[in-house]
Amino acid sequence: MLMKKHVTFLVCLATSLMITWVGFADSTKQKEPAPPKPGPAGKYSIKEIMQKGFKTDGNLKELIIDGKATTTQKDQFIDYAENLAKYKVRKGEQADFEMLVADLVTAAKSKDLKGFEKAASCKACHKAHKIYPPKKK
Ligand code: HEC
Repeated sequence: MLMKKHVTFLVCLATSLMITWVGFADSTKQKEPAPPKPGPAGKYSIKEIMQKGFKTDGNLKELIIDGKATTTQKDQFIDYAENLAKYKVRKGEQADFEMLVADLVTAAKSKDLKGFEKAASCKACHKAHKIYPPKKK
């Protein structure tokens, strides 16, 4: 009777140790927790602002720099930039990011194209605030 209780206890102990160990091994396998998904940028998605504002062929930034943007396109860019300020960065300081975006908005509203080009620098902003996806092998 006493013996049986003992065995049950040992089995329980072994099982729980194993569960703990498996859990531990599993948690060491994944190195870093995945970053949270990017949130909205005001009424837009960050993707839309980046693609249409900065990246695709005929993006608004390029049109503005080339002096080819219509008033509507310029206004659209400014609207993008103003909404970009509402994006919660997943990397770096939010205040720093908002300053970069404020410069971008001011530059987009001005006629200083050189200044605009500088304020719209992908690298300056991305280096501090963009999470790069893991490199594909
Ligand atoms: C003032 C800041 C700023 C500037 C300037 C900027 N970006 Fe971004 N960009 C961001 C932020 C913030 C993200 C999202 C970062 C994150 O959370 O990972 C982003 C993400 C992106 C993405 C990924 C979007 C997605 O989710 O699919 C692309 C593509 C991109 N940017 C292109 C550009 C290009 C090209 C330029 C320059 C011509 C540029 N960006 C300039 C702030 C900026």
